Amino acid sequence: MTTARDRWEALAQRDAVRVAALDPLLDPRAATRPGSRDDGGVVLEDARGVVLGLARQAPAASVWTAPRGHSLSLARSADHAAEEVDRAVGEVLDRWEAEVLLPDREAGEATTVASVSVSALDDDVVAPLVARHFGRAVVLAVRRVRDGDAEEPAQARAGGGVVVRPATTADAGAVVAATVAVHRADRAYGFVPWLADLEERLADGVAAELGAAPGWTWVAQRDGAVVGVCQVEPPDRAAWITGATTAGPAAYLGLLHVDPTARGAGVGRALVASAQARCAREGVATVLLHHAAASPRSAPFWAREGYRPLLTTWSRRPAVRPAVRPVPGADATGRGT
Ligand SMILES: CC(C)(COP(=O)(O)OP(=O)(O)OC[C@H]1O[C@@H](n2cnc3c(N)ncnc32)[C@H](O)[C@@H]1OP(=O)(O)O)[C@@H](O)C(=O)NCCC(=O)NCCS
Repeated sequence: MTTARDRWEALAQRDAVRVAALDPLLDPRAATRPGSRDDGGVVLEDARGVVLGLARQAPAASVWTAPRGHSLSLARSADHAAEEVDRAVGEVLDRWEAEVLLPDREAGEATTVASVSVSALDDDVVAPLVARHFGRAVVLAVRRVRDGDAEEPAQARAGGGVVVRPATTADAGAVVAATVAVHRADRAYGFVPWLADLEERLADGVAAELGAAPGWTWVAQRDGAVVGVCQVEPPDRAAWITGATTAGPAAYLGLLHVDPTARGAGVGRALVASAQARCAREGVATVLLHHAAASPRSAPFWAREGYRPLLTTWSRRPAVRPAVRPVPGADATGRGT
């Protein structure tokens, strides 16, 4: 007997052809996130069988994600007009809210998030998401490593007495401080959670990364003080994300931060140039990174440095929309009974 999960797997596989045609750099599985059949999940379908969704729930994977995350992957059958897709995606989103999110008693808490990740070029799903209060939260961006990248650092030296050099384990404190600063900056834009023990939680991982991947972290120094940090996970340490692109080997730029007093003078660009030069020398084909979609600091900067959106995560926080009008028969939370 064919189960709903079987139909989801089959449709996701067929839809991969459409997604690949939209953007040859995106591996369609980054949007459908195939798991094993027994990793749970609820399959949701619109009345005419145009769109299927797989709803899953997961606790925070890292300090960068909400403590309680609901996600929905979408796949559609071929050859439907944009209006039909709009209607069908909307229906699946509404069923998700009614059948999965509302029954989760915690889904109204600010620490929960409902997310849908789609190809950045998948225009047809945007209107039904916006209509249901989803915002473009996080972008996975990509840039192909170019022939000239290996030469850049010498020309891209930051001015004002700033020197870029590879970090050592003695820079661990500066790397943690930079990571905390980016975490704080992204909290408002990227649905990053507030964590009282953030510094402690980061300290071990940062030190381990510096030791495990020497030469893949850079600091910008001015008058002996670190004013900027950039860290890259080389391909063999970035397997958790590099499958998102068809153009491997890919590296993941996990951190870039420039002290507010040193911004606007080319420090960020010099750090990125050093990172890209190492990537070029190591035969890396693409560099991936996440940034908060709405951040006026990071989004325009990355576009200027040649990165463009690959996968967009649309999010709503809290996962369930608060009722804004009194509903007859509503309970104290404002939700219908
Ligand atoms: C993003 C950030 C690293 C940029 O560092 P920076 O040293 O100020 O950047 P640079 O001076 O090297 O800028 C390089 C180019 O980008 C432009 N640029 C930098 N920030 C920009 C912004 N917010 N909007 C538009 N352009 C910007 C610069 O004008 C320059 O272009 P130009 O040479 O053509 O004039 C810094 O603002 C920062 O640390 N922000 C907070 C953390 C963050 O957002 N990190 C990225 C997280 S993914």
